[in-house]
Formats: sequence, structure tokens, C-alpha cells
Amino acid sequence: MFLCLTLTFLLTGAVYRVKLTQHGSGSEPTRALQIQDHPGLSVYLESGRGERLLPPVKHYIQNLLKVNMEGPYGLEWPVEEKIKRREMVAPEARYIFVHEKPGKRPITLRDGEKEAPIWNGDGDPIVGFVHYRFVVEEEMPVLYVFELQLEPSIQGRSLGKFLMQLIELIARKNQMGAVMLTVQKSNLSAMNFYRNKMRFSISSTSPSSVDPLMGAEKSYEILCKTFDEEAKAKLEVKLLGLRAVWETSKASFALRS
Ligand SMILES: CC(C)(COP(=O)(O)OP(=O)(O)OC[C@H]1O[C@@H](n2cnc3c(N)ncnc32)[C@H](O)[C@@H]1OP(=O)(O)O)[C@@H](O)C(=O)NCCC(=O)NCCS
Repeated sequence: MFLCLTLTFLLTGAVYRVKLTQHGSGSEPTRALQIQDHPGLSVYLESGRGERLLPPVKHYIQNLLKVNMEGPYGLEWPVEEKIKRREMVAPEARYIFVHEKPGKRPITLRDGEKEAPIWNGDGDPIVGFVHYRFVVEEEMPVLYVFELQLEPSIQGRSLGKFLMQLIELIARKNQMGAVMLTVQKSNLSAMNFYRNKMRFSISSTSPSSVDPLMGAEKSYEILCKTFDEEAKAKLEVKLLGLRAVWETSKASFALRS
């Protein structure tokens, strides 16, 4: 099957036009996704799979994760880095890579500074990526975003928002009930991006929903965006339920102290 679809995303101050050329029978993009019409940004998207990553791509992913995530993870980073290395190459791992078009390096930061590229391979440099998987959470099929990472030079240009809209589209076209992801509490800008801009909610599976006391000790939240009532009932926090859990936790805390 061959499918060619043109999508236009209107974002604040930016228009991304995407030409999705698809080969195969699935509804996941497999080849060329051309993005046009954003001033100062000339990129295209390409899909990938964890088990087929080439060595320069693996190095790139590890380096970008270190640049972006060592700070938010803090002391947890050495352990987390090892976990992420394993996750990166899993057969279930699906990727969308953002490539910069030829002749456009180096990207100029918004403050005019130049930044050394993180990509160190041949071909058009990668400047960011999404790692996602189709999984089951609370008996619901969901698309789980494992990573959304853009190089600092390309952040703040609506590309993150565009990629999340694309992820939502892939999830819906594959009959997923929701998009889910995990975010570090200390990563305030990402938390703000997902909660306030992308309209994600705290999931009922997040430690802070399961048990507020235990949640307070955890460094992360699980967020979700549901597409139907069943997913909403299973994956979003029910305020009454949460209040009951909170009251129970408070009571048990009072008894213990
Ligand atoms: C988080 C991230 C993916 C967001 O992508 P981005 O391209 O920088 O964000 P966008 O430009 O698409 O922003 C979309 C909206 O969120 C807002 N926003 C983004 N970052 C923000 C921040 N730090 N503070 C406030 N608002 C922010 C933008 O103003 C924009 O709002 P608008 O549509 O009203 O103009 C990107 O910054 C990134 O890769 N960060 C480092 C890695 C990371 O933390 N990933 C998430 C791990 S869970």
C-alpha cells in the first residue's frame, strides 16, 4: 500500500506543512515527512526502530539524553542513563528522527550564539527525536512516549508541540486509547509544556495519584491524554477517588505520628 497525505498544522506563529509518504500496510509513518515553512527551521522527519539503530544514531541519542536530562535527573542520572541505553535498542522502540536539511549548520540559537552539533555521523544531522511504543496500561492500549528530545538550539520553535500533535495522530490512527509519558518533577519546563500547552493530565497510575505520601517521595509524574470515555475512566485521576486516597493517607499518617 502506498499513501500520500498532506497535513497542515497551524501553530502559534508557525505553519508546519507535512507531507506524509507512507509505504506498507500500517498507519505509522515509515519514510519521508517533509516539514516546510517555519522561518529559520529547515528539517524533515524519518522513522526508525530500536533494533535497527546504527552506531552513530545510538551515540547521538545517548549524547543528547546526557545534554538534556542529566540536570533534571540529578543524582539518579547514572542509573537512569543505563536504563535508557537498554530501552533505546528494544525491538518495541519506535522512533521519529528530526533531520536538519543539508547546508543549514550550524543552527543559530535565539540569542545569536552558535552551538556545536551533537550529531557526529554521516548524512543529514539529527537534531532531535521521539521514542515511543505501543503498550498496554490498565488494560488499555496506549501510545507511551519514552523520550521527546530536541537539541537546545532547536527548542522553543514549536517543533515539540508539532511532534506531540503528530504522536497524537499516530495514536489515534492506531486506535490507542491515550498518549502517556513520564516526566521528572524537576523538569519544570517540560512539565509546563505537557500540562499547560499540550493539555496532559496527571494519570491515575502516577505515584502521586496512587498514594500521595508515596508520590511525594517519587521524582516523577505519569501524565496522560485520553481519547475516549473508557480510557478517561481507567487512566485519568478521578477527583473523588483521589480525595478518598488522600484522606486515608492523611488518617494513616496521623495514626503513625
Ligand atoms: C520539552 C520540549 C520537547 C518542548 O519542545 P519545544 O519545541 O521546545 O516547545 P515548543 O516550542 O513546541 O513550545 C510549545 C509551547 O510550549 C511553550 N513552552 C515550551 N517550553 C516552555 C518553557 N520552558 N516554559 C514555558 N513555556 C514553554 C511555548 O511557549 C509554546 O507555547 P505557545 O504555543 O503558546 O507559543 C523541548 O524543549 C525539549 O526537548 N526539552 C529538553 C528535553 C526534555 O525535557 N524533554 C522532555 C522529557 S519528559
